[in-house]
Amino acid sequence: MKLLVINGPNLNLLGIREPEVYGREDYAALVAYIERCCAEVGAECKVFQSNHEGAIVDEIQAAYGAYDGIVINPAAYTHTSVAILDALKAVALPAVEVHLSDVSKREDFRQISYVGKACLKTVVGKGFAGYGEAIAFLAAYLAQN
Ligand code: DQA
Repeated sequence: MKLLVINGPNLNLLGIREPEVYGREDYAALVAYIERCCAEVGAECKVFQSNHEGAIVDEIQAAYGAYDGIVINPAAYTHTSVAILDALKAVALPAVEVHLSDVSKREDFRQISYVGKACLKTVVGKGFAGYGEAIAFLAAYLAQN
């Protein structure tokens, strides 16, 4: 089982960026956590981060035929990107959306998720553990489908 984990803009600044919202652990700690979660479910994984919408679209397209599932935190592109939504629909891989913060309790402009429309499940407000939940969900889903 091969999983692609995608992190969008500004997530590379974890630890520096609004720690009261996103926590004090840095991006390297998030990557290490994701790799541990994938190992626990016996999945190979690639963790990809970009601040660029087109690079994320390219990565999703390249996942076709190469990965079994996608975990994505599109960050700010969640609320704006029809291009990322269309890419996920195009490759039709099972995908789970993750947000570190509870976007449902934040500003109005965060209440829309385009990307979520192509995802089987959305996990919000659980910090790093949300990625663990998404990875476990995808592993169980892929074992059955
Ligand atoms: C985020 C929530 C988004 O609204 C925000 O733009 C981010 C991070 C989260 O993980 O909580 O950059 O996706």
